[in-house]
Amino acid sequence: MYQALYRKWRPRTFDEVSGQSHVTEILRTQCRDGRVAHAYLFCGTRGTGKTSVAKILAKAVNCESPVDGNPCNRCPACREIDAGLSTDVLEIDAASNNGVDDIRALREEVVYPPSVLKKRVYIIDEVHMLTNEAFNALLKTLEEPPEYILFILATTELSQLPATIVSRCLRFDFNRLSEEVIAERLRFVAGQEGISLGEGAPELLARLADGAMRDGLSILEACTAGVGETNAVTAEVVRDRLGIADADRLLAFYRACAKQDAPGALDLLGEVHRSSKDLSVFLDDLSVLARDLLILRQTAGRVKRSDLRFPAEAAALLEEFPSYFTPETLFWICSLLDETQSRMTRYSTNKKMLLEFAAIRLCDLTLNDSLQALAARVARLEKGFVPPAAAPQESIPPAPQSSPSPTTDDAEPPTVETQADAFGQYAELAEELAGHPDLLPYVRKLTATMEGDKFVILADPFTNRMLQRGSNVQALANAVRAVTGKSYVLLFRDRAPGESGPKPIEEIT
Ligand SMILES: Nc1ncnc2c1ncn2[C@@H]1O[C@H](COP(=O)(O)OP(=O)(O)OP(=O)(O)O)[C@@H](O)[C@H]1O
Ligand SMILES: [Mg+2]
Ligand SMILES: [Zn+2]
Repeated sequence: MYQALYRKWRPRTFDEVSGQSHVTEILRTQCRDGRVAHAYLFCGTRGTGKTSVAKILAKAVNCESPVDGNPCNRCPACREIDAGLSTDVLEIDAASNNGVDDIRALREEVVYPPSVLKKRVYIIDEVHMLTNEAFNALLKTLEEPPEYILFILATTELSQLPATIVSRCLRFDFNRLSEEVIAERLRFVAGQEGISLGEGAPELLARLADGAMRDGLSILEACTAGVGETNAVTAEVVRDRLGIADADRLLAFYRACAKQDAPGALDLLGEVHRSSKDLSVFLDDLSVLARDLLILRQTAGRVKRSDLRFPAEAAALLEEFPSYFTPETLFWICSLLDETQSRMTRYSTNKKMLLEFAAIRLCDLTLNDSLQALAARVARLEKGFVPPAAAPQESIPPAPQSSPSPTTDDAEPPTVETQADAFGQYAELAEELAGHPDLLPYVRKLTATMEGDKFVILADPFTNRMLQRGSNVQALANAVRAVTGKSYVLLFRDRAPGESGPKPIEEIT
């Protein structure tokens, strides 16, 4: 029968449990010395070994030939419990509907000794889900159970348990597992299963497991599907399977931000999104890289490379853009990304849009309201008020290198396209936008003029609104760039009723 990897590799002795020795050592000695409590409470995040340890404990107290407190896993008692056939080891899932009934039945049963085994063990999983009624029923039994009864309660939500229950149990907290511990177990399981893990793969999987061993094993299993005969899971396979963008994309994204190239940054997000990479993982990685940048900068490089996740990328960015990645800006970037992350988890509806907002802010440090940025702006103002149109060039962020915009000397005065030019532009724009049928009808209604580095779109208010919906702005910006070969800032201006000026394409044809 097919069995999921994480089930197949459920630890079967205390010693086999990874990373929870503060729990398993005590339990093992208690079992060895016959000093087992009557009720245990296991709490901690999901997939860290609570149910596994509960089963090991149930076997250990009933095992006919325990080994230094560990169950032997060979005697009839161990085997029966492992197979889930013992009538003396009962697993109650408090999250299911019959939780209350089960607890009621339990109250009536506890007066009878176990039928076969030494102890009757009740494992109550997700115990925080019990109703008040069930808690009360349980409380009575927990108070003074007969010595042949053992309760093991497990929960991920300690705070939802009544204090009366908690205080009657011996409590153990299961830790989130470290990446090293998970990677090590994954290496072991992979070895046993004949899966070869490529360089960096166990570490990457462990990182994605986010503290939960079950997740690590599930992800490993998902990655083995389809790798064929070789049975080789490389870091690249993991990235591909889970849709994680590689470090080059992270680097390119921060480069675009540092160059204030918003269209470029948005393009990149679109690309990551289209290749169905998970944007929340991308965001996660951006945060980690920002942290690496901060640490690298603040320690002046005196940090172990192994303490950083993207040492090469961070070093490259710091060298290329020292004035963008100041400590203040980095702190700001970290908190901006953090805020974006928590919004993403709370309202997971439009990840892409949230990331786009963040990207736009990262590309324009004047949107940075940190004290340092404000001070810099005040200083600039103190030098004398300069009308924005005539602002000196050095106060304008460096233009993206890929598409240089005109410098002061050869900057042309704002031009209004002739209708013929406009017509040509529209035709090309329309071609570029062929993949966006919802945009096309509106494009025919607009007039565009180029003013310096701005692409001003003049249209009726409704058209303007439609052009700015969803991902339209980005598509439009991409198309404009493709047609003109330059990165323009899009400006949408409403055409007043009866306003003259260049006619939209619709009125020409
Ligand atoms: N500490 C661990 N050491 C080794 N394997 C583990 C550990 N924790 C979890 N696992 C693996 O994950 C699987 C699930 O673990 P388990 O059911 O014990 O987690 P749990 O803490 O009860 O999770 P949940 O809160 O979701 O019920 C196990 O079958 C095992 O393969
Ligand atoms: Mg469990
Ligand atoms: Zn045994």
